[in-house]
Amino acid sequence: MSNFFDDKISDRLGGENFGKSTVIYKFELIKRAKAAAKKAHPDVELIDMGVGEPDSPADKLVVTALSEEAGKPANRWYADNGIPEFQEAAARYLEKVYGLSGIIPSENIIHGIGSKPILAMLPFCFINPGDILLTTVPGYPVTATYTRYLGGEVFNLPLEESNSFLPDFGIIPEPVLKKARMLYLNYPNNPTGAVANAEFFERVVDFARKNNIVVVNDSAYGALTYDGQRPLSFLSVKGAMDVGMEVHSLSKAFNMTGWRIGFICGNSKAVSAYATVKDNTDSGQFRAIQKAAVQALDHLEITENTAAKYSRRFDMLISALNEAGFDAKKPKGTFFCYVKAPAGTENGKVFNTAAEFSEFLIKESLISTVPWDDAGRYVRFSVTFEADSPEKEKAVIDEMKKRLKVLKLKF
Ligand SMILES: Cc1ncc(COP(=O)(O)O)c(C=O)c1O
Repeated sequence: MSNFFDDKISDRLGGENFGKSTVIYKFELIKRAKAAAKKAHPDVELIDMGVGEPDSPADKLVVTALSEEAGKPANRWYADNGIPEFQEAAARYLEKVYGLSGIIPSENIIHGIGSKPILAMLPFCFINPGDILLTTVPGYPVTATYTRYLGGEVFNLPLEESNSFLPDFGIIPEPVLKKARMLYLNYPNNPTGAVANAEFFERVVDFARKNNIVVVNDSAYGALTYDGQRPLSFLSVKGAMDVGMEVHSLSKAFNMTGWRIGFICGNSKAVSAYATVKDNTDSGQFRAIQKAAVQALDHLEITENTAAKYSRRFDMLISALNEAGFDAKKPKGTFFCYVKAPAGTENGKVFNTAAEFSEFLIKESLISTVPWDDAGRYVRFSVTFEADSPEKEKAVIDEMKKRLKVLKLKF
């Protein structure tokens, strides 16, 4: 049956083909496989290692601040491009966690309703039709999606284990380099768990200058680092502030995904371009949330305690995966462990893709993971699985290990 909107959808969304694709996207496939597995085995608990969000709520201190601020009449107005208290707290945070000094809160920092909309708005600031965005894959696709919406093009830089999951700028063909306007990076990286070092960031600054390219480092997992790895900001290397910006989020480091609060820090001209797009898009996050976020940013121990929990879980998870035959290494950052998918099982099952393995794992063992087939065949296990005590964490991992060993995976 025809619908009035059949010929109304914009070309950027596929025009008349919108909604007709038969391709089922990865996360939809996982959702369907989970539902089918639960239906087939109602008595078996599903072990969800695919979650991309913290398993705990925001700290009490932050929740209390929100409840106190929420009813104050002065907080009810549109917040537009934000309140100075939040910008100042963000600057203090960057100095304490990353050693960034000289940040001018009113010029270099602006909040966002989470980092996702900031990443969506940045192509509006820098991409003209025909311009190219360089982006790492596998990865968070929002900036690339908006680049395409705006008539720009996307060039993928694969993240490979052989290069410590850092992009190799040497593979970019000259004509692509000429049209490249923007580089999207994400360290600490989702899904690989890789962190960048200062030497890599220095190379990025060099590359950006030589080729006239704006750099965005998505630091959504910024302060979640392990085993002596210090959080590192792109902006801490010489010259970075001249060519780029960094996007931070309270979602992961402060268990605040649903609260929707993050910020951008960078060159005042770039930040002011973002402010212009933002001002024409939203009217700012609720002031009470910004004020509660100030409490979070001033209490680094919240993130430190969360990182200690994830680190403890990683130690158990990595050893369980290795016992089941995987080649797992503890990541230096994020809450993800990215491991090569098996080739099959000793019983003759063959996995042609990581997606096939992931689907098998849900159906056969009720273990949910996220597959990535963009640069090699990998699956992502997350340490944000539900468990409210160290004993429960161990019980979840032990059960997962038992189920994995039964499968007799071949690599
Ligand atoms: C790499 C990366 N960047 C950005 C985000 C968005 O985070 P938020 O919008 O909650 O700040 C996510 C969320 O999963 C992410 O994985």
